[in-house]
Amino acid sequence: MPASSDPAAPSARGVGSTHWNPARYLTFAGERLQPFIDLLHRAGVPETRRIVDLGCGPGTGMPVLRALWPEASIVGVDSSAEMLERAAQSTADDASVSYLRSDIRDFRLGEPADLVVSNAALQWLPEHRALLPQIMDQVAPGGALAVQVPGNFDAPSHRLLAEFATSAPYSDHIDPDSLLQPTSQLQDYMLDVARDGWTVDAWETRYHHILTGEDPVFTWISSTAARPVLEALPDPLRERFVAEYKAALAEAYPPNRLGTILPFRRLFFVARHLPDEA
Ligand SMILES: C[S@@+](CC[C@H](N)C(=O)[O-])C[C@H]1O[C@@H](n2cnc3c(N)ncnc32)[C@H](O)[C@@H]1O
Repeated sequence: MPASSDPAAPSARGVGSTHWNPARYLTFAGERLQPFIDLLHRAGVPETRRIVDLGCGPGTGMPVLRALWPEASIVGVDSSAEMLERAAQSTADDASVSYLRSDIRDFRLGEPADLVVSNAALQWLPEHRALLPQIMDQVAPGGALAVQVPGNFDAPSHRLLAEFATSAPYSDHIDPDSLLQPTSQLQDYMLDVARDGWTVDAWETRYHHILTGEDPVFTWISSTAARPVLEALPDPLRERFVAEYKAALAEAYPPNRLGTILPFRRLFFVARHLPDEA
């Protein structure tokens, strides 16, 4: 199904809403998809007729959702036109998948969904924890909210990015508010979704991705956390930033005979809405 081009759709805003490059993001599609697969397998919602994927990106996760829930209708929500276009192409022959261009903050369902998932997207909204109650309100009894966010902000990739971005000469061009903010402790998320009539399951995983190619950690992060920084810098400075950041990453993540190993911690939580009593 094509992406919705509803002109009345609320406009996207904030740090996650600058330009995304689907092709670059998909360079490590398999590695980025694995947490989504792990999340869904533990989400445990057998009777799923209606699924919403908040921040669905280029639609990499749609085949997984479809394989697990062949009969479900699926709505992918994202604020990026580029990402939605890519997603719509990938599911063009599946009439039960539709897309909506909307900011997650503004998104409301007409009727509750059985499964609301969000993989590697909520961290782009600085206030995402405060949004969890309104997202939970859109989950039907018997359904679940399943979320994965990165918990990797103290890793060299992210520490170096923050150090460079907040130092001269780059800092003059970068609004600190435009930098991706660290996610919270898993326990905080657990408490955020603790509600009568709900249960919560939470865990974390430190993946060890084996990356190949030239400057693979830079390639990985340049399409996600480093994207707002790279976009903010004017041309000659951007080149200098890229050269310095690549060199620092190469030192922090030296290649070995497997390739370049990128440890990446991710946080998962599933809030289950208990079924209504008969
Ligand atoms: C890192 S990608 C994750 C994509 C996909 N869920 C996946 O697992 O591959 C983050 C996505 O969140 C979307 N996003 C960021 N901020 C958003 C917002 N405020 N409202 C809607 N989508 C947003 C971006 O456009 C992007 O497609």
